Amino acid sequence: MKFKHHAIFNNSLDTLDWEALRNDEKESPYFLPYTLKDYLGKVDVAEPSDFTSTLIAEMKQLGLAKLFSIGCGIASQEYQIKKFSDLSVTVSDYNATVFRLKEFNIFDECMQLDAFKDKITADESYMMFFHRIDTEFDDQQLKTIFVKCHEAGIRYICFAPAELLSFKIFIAEVKTVILSFARKKPRVFCGYARSKGLFKKIWGKHYKLKQEFTAGNGFFLLESIEQ
Ligand SMILES: C[S@@+](CC[C@H](N)C(=O)[O-])C[C@H]1O[C@@H](n2cnc3c(N)ncnc32)[C@H](O)[C@@H]1O
Repeated sequence: MKFKHHAIFNNSLDTLDWEALRNDEKESPYFLPYTLKDYLGKVDVAEPSDFTSTLIAEMKQLGLAKLFSIGCGIASQEYQIKKFSDLSVTVSDYNATVFRLKEFNIFDECMQLDAFKDKITADESYMMFFHRIDTEFDDQQLKTIFVKCHEAGIRYICFAPAELLSFKIFIAEVKTVILSFARKKPRVFCGYARSKGLFKKIWGKHYKLKQEFTAGNGFFLLESIEQ
C-alpha cells in the first residue's frame, strides 16, 4: 500500500528541486551551509542519538568497517556515525552540493553519484545506507537500486524509510493542504509513503529483512539472499 506525500517550501517552486533547497538559506531544514563552522553549527551534537549508537553497534557485530550512503543530503546522520565511531563513511548524492561536504574534510569519501545512472562503487565490505531516500523513487526505481546493490555484492543494507505509511502521515497530509491554502504556496509532490508490506515486495527478490530496529524513527536491516 502507498500514499502520495506532499510538502510546502518557502520558495514557490512547484516541483521538488534538491539542489535549490540545499543552496537556499531560507529553506532551513534542507539548507547545506557553505562553511565548516556553519555546517558544524547545524549538525554537531554532544551525544550520539539512539539511531547512531544502534547502527554503529550493529556494524561492529557484523564485522563491517565501512558505510556507504546514497542520497546523503546534508549528511547529518552520517556526520554522527563518523564522529562517534572509527568507521569509514562515504557519502554520495546526485547533485553537486555533495562537493561542499567534500571541502569540509569530515568524511572519508564524498562523491556525486546518481543511484540509477552511475555504478555503485561499493562491495561486500560496506554497509549500504539508505536514509530517508525511499520517497524519492517509484517502486520500479527502488527495485532497480536493490538489484544494483545485489549485483555489486552488497550483503547488508540499512534502510531507514522517510515515511512508513501510518495514520500520522494521513494527518500530516491534511495539515499540508491547509497550510498550502493559508500561505498560498504550492503543494509539492515528494513521493510516496509506503507500507512495510510493499517495501518487502520491493526488496524481496534480492534482500530479506534480518532485523527491525525502533531506534530513532526506526530502520530495517536487510541481508542479501544468495542467488
Ligand atoms: C529526502 S532527501 C534525504 C536526505 C538525507 N539522506 C536525509 O536523511 O536527510 C533525499 C535525497 O536523495 C537525493 N537523491 C534524489 N534522487 C537521487 C538519485 N537518483 N541518486 C542519488 N541521490 C538522489 C536528493 O538529492 C536528496 O538529498
